[in-house]
Amino acid sequence: MDIQVKKVTQIPTKSKAQTLIEFCFRTSSDPKNIKVSTPHVAKEVSNLINSALKEEHFCADPNETLLFRNANIEGYKHLIIVSLGDGNKIGEESLRRACAALEKVLVKNKIKEVDLNCDSLLSKFPKKVIEATSAAVEGFYLADYEFDKFINVETRQKKHPIKLINLVCSAKTKTALVQKGLESGKIISECINFARALGDTPGNLLPPEELGNETIKAAKGTKLKVSVWDVAKIKKEKMGGLYGVGKGSDQGPRFITMEYKGAAASKKPICFVGKGLTFDAGGISLKPAMAMDEMKYDMCGGANVIATMLAIAKLGLKINAIAYVPASENMLGPSANKPGDILTARSGKTVEVLNTDAEGRLILMDALDYACEQKPAAIIDAATLTGAIVVALHNVYTGFFTKDKGLKDKIEKAALVAGERVWHMPIHDEHARDMKGRHADLQNISNHRGAGSSTAAAFLEQFIKNDIPWAHFDIAGTAWDLGDRYNYCPSKGASGVMIRTFVEIAKTFK
Ligand code: BES
Ligand code: MN
Ligand code: ZN
Repeated sequence: MDIQVKKVTQIPTKSKAQTLIEFCFRTSSDPKNIKVSTPHVAKEVSNLINSALKEEHFCADPNETLLFRNANIEGYKHLIIVSLGDGNKIGEESLRRACAALEKVLVKNKIKEVDLNCDSLLSKFPKKVIEATSAAVEGFYLADYEFDKFINVETRQKKHPIKLINLVCSAKTKTALVQKGLESGKIISECINFARALGDTPGNLLPPEELGNETIKAAKGTKLKVSVWDVAKIKKEKMGGLYGVGKGSDQGPRFITMEYKGAAASKKPICFVGKGLTFDAGGISLKPAMAMDEMKYDMCGGANVIATMLAIAKLGLKINAIAYVPASENMLGPSANKPGDILTARSGKTVEVLNTDAEGRLILMDALDYACEQKPAAIIDAATLTGAIVVALHNVYTGFFTKDKGLKDKIEKAALVAGERVWHMPIHDEHARDMKGRHADLQNISNHRGAGSSTAAAFLEQFIKNDIPWAHFDIAGTAWDLGDRYNYCPSKGASGVMIRTFVEIAKTFK
């Protein structure tokens, strides 16, 4: 699918595309008297919409579409209308969703090329042309994602690929800004789709070494410097947690570093850390068989952080950024961790492994400690860390933990712009106290049943030093299988959650 900007003096225009897309929104929400506004749209189009409203075939709900075949209007044979919903509630997310809905209409109706009236798309965004265009483009590309490369062509569900979407702008719209928005939307959605594909790839095809290789490959041609440590180096660097968890598998662990310099060397970087557990069987504390296949997604924190860095580099943001992804399997081989084993973290702290399935925190503790040594301006980690966060927030909210008020505000603002839901979760001294060990400094699980996400976060906190502002995102509930929450996310499969939020945080980072 390709999206291009097309400048015309006036819409209607002579076009190869036979189909035109127009946007509308509601101006009154009285269900008995729905009124719709259609800025920058020809009178005949408004008439068609009004008659559909009158006949109650259309009520301009968000993402509601109407296809008029053979309407023969404005020089086009066919016409598609999409509603952005209530005119008072329109934001970038409305455009993302409307365009995702359009993608489905185009595929279903086998429409290969369309012109989209960009004036009507942007009517509510005169001062946010770049952001709005980016969101619309993201909607198209994110909805277009499909992970079907392992399905033979003959049996693959027949999809009718969309070839070209023209963003048609008249003199009213600043095409240079639309072009910028298009480029941004392309980069962000490509990076999100890349992270989704990593998540959807199963454990046998994406062991830690491959995750490293994929990262190196994806960073080619960008300003990113990638390095991948192997087992010997991990051991030498005293990463006892990552080394210990990795020992259970014959696929050795890796430690992936990505560095981006977009600002002066004196400027402190923002640092991302992601859990890259390429398959979590639970180790000797084996998980139940039911849905264990989903544990191929246990590297989504890592994948989403890798994608965030790719996006930062491709957008050319004027900041410095680093990412660390500890990658490992959690298996039950002859050298695997045993319950009761004591590991020594890179920081020197000792940890009793009371449950080998609480492995994420063990690989993250070393990555966080290493991250702190670099003295970044802030550390943000993402991990599919606990089943408890799924109980608390399901796939509706990503839970995040931080004691830094400034960082909390920044995160909430960024998530709002990105159209992603985040919820600030508690982390206090009580939670940390529950993680004190009996025969070592710490233990990797709490002795109590409750607040499993907070105690996990409090465990991680023990490895933050130098007073660096830190936030931890538990994405266990939102990293995959979002069902029908977002029409631009696959209902089953990796979502790429928090990439947009993280990129937004990076954009506004000072
Ligand atoms: N990767 C899992 C967390 C997880 C579980 C993510 C279900 C998504 C869905 C993590 O490594 C884990 O096993 N956590 C344990 C911790 C427990 C043993 C304290 C959990 O949440 O059950
Ligand atoms: Mn586990
Ligand atoms: Zn895990």
